Amino acid sequence: MKKRVFSGIQPTGDIHIGNYLAAIRHWAAMQDKYENIFCIVDLHAITVPQEPKVLKAKIREVSGLLIAAGIDPARSILFVQSHVSAHAELAWLLNCVIPMGWMQRMTQFKDKSQKQREQVTVGLFDYPSLMAADILLYDTDVVPVGEDQKQHVELARDTAQRFNSIYGETFVLPEPMIPDVGARIMGLDDPMKKMSKSESGSGHAINLLDPPEVIRGKIMRATTDSLREIRFDENRPGINNLLTIYQLFSGDNKAEIESRFEGKGYADFKKTLAEVVTEGLRPLQERYRELTAEPGRIDAILKDGADRARPAAEKTLKKVMDKIGLG
Ligand code: TYM
Repeated sequence: MKKRVFSGIQPTGDIHIGNYLAAIRHWAAMQDKYENIFCIVDLHAITVPQEPKVLKAKIREVSGLLIAAGIDPARSILFVQSHVSAHAELAWLLNCVIPMGWMQRMTQFKDKSQKQREQVTVGLFDYPSLMAADILLYDTDVVPVGEDQKQHVELARDTAQRFNSIYGETFVLPEPMIPDVGARIMGLDDPMKKMSKSESGSGHAINLLDPPEVIRGKIMRATTDSLREIRFDENRPGINNLLTIYQLFSGDNKAEIESRFEGKGYADFKKTLAEVVTEGLRPLQERYRELTAEPGRIDAILKDGADRARPAAEKTLKKVMDKIGLG
């Protein structure tokens, strides 16, 4: 029996190469090895304010990008979180099992709530409970994510364990799967900050739909340092981040890359990097354009995905309700 993979992505902002290199690309590559469910988590998106029309469009855009990146609806279930109501329902039930103290330790909440101060919603605080529901509904074994989501997946696992110990064996215990290279791609304008969809600076992230000249401009302006050597070195976050991006798009190893750029300047390296990234994204961008040229295609895939996900989710929800003594 194949193990079950579940992962999700928020339909907010522009999907960038951090999302792609750490998550989406691996989801696509592992499709034959696992049984896969991928979710566009729109209920998570509304934990911060969203413009309704933009949110609706973003849900289709992200879905299209996942398909264009190789997620194959014939081999994987792809659906929108709010189309399967069991996610919100299980989140409530888990709320009544998760201790406040666990949630208060979540670093992402601490970071995000500092930025928004008094605008912070209860939903943002409760975000990890909904994420635990996403994962636990489908008897998930493995959750492939970037490093920033590790703590949330661990909370899902702890929640499963706690529920099982109170009510008896119910949930499978999930494990995070974090890539060895590229688990945390940094912003091009500030390599001390994680590349993020919610960061607004125009030189911050390379988005999957950026045209070649935009990619080139962002890379040429990327922050480096005043040293000259082109070397992988974690103490030099700017060049290290660019080299990591190069490594992941080119598929070459570190030694090959360092020797290729020995004696060259940053400008030469950046030009080559821009070409590698542009070429790496070109097939995805072409497939995306083809896909979106067919009206209704994405919606049909999402409807089919929700119809395939719902029975498994409802089965788990019913089991959980029975254990708790509801209904
Ligand atoms: P989201 O939408 O922020 O990001 C989607 C995926 O991209 C990864 N990621 C990064 N990886 C490397 N470097 C970066 N700079 C970077 N930025 C983002 C994320 O780790 C993630 O894997 N809470 C999740 C969505 C979610 C989910 C789930 C994931 C909801 N339910 C259940 C897994 C399982 C999130 O906001 O991802």
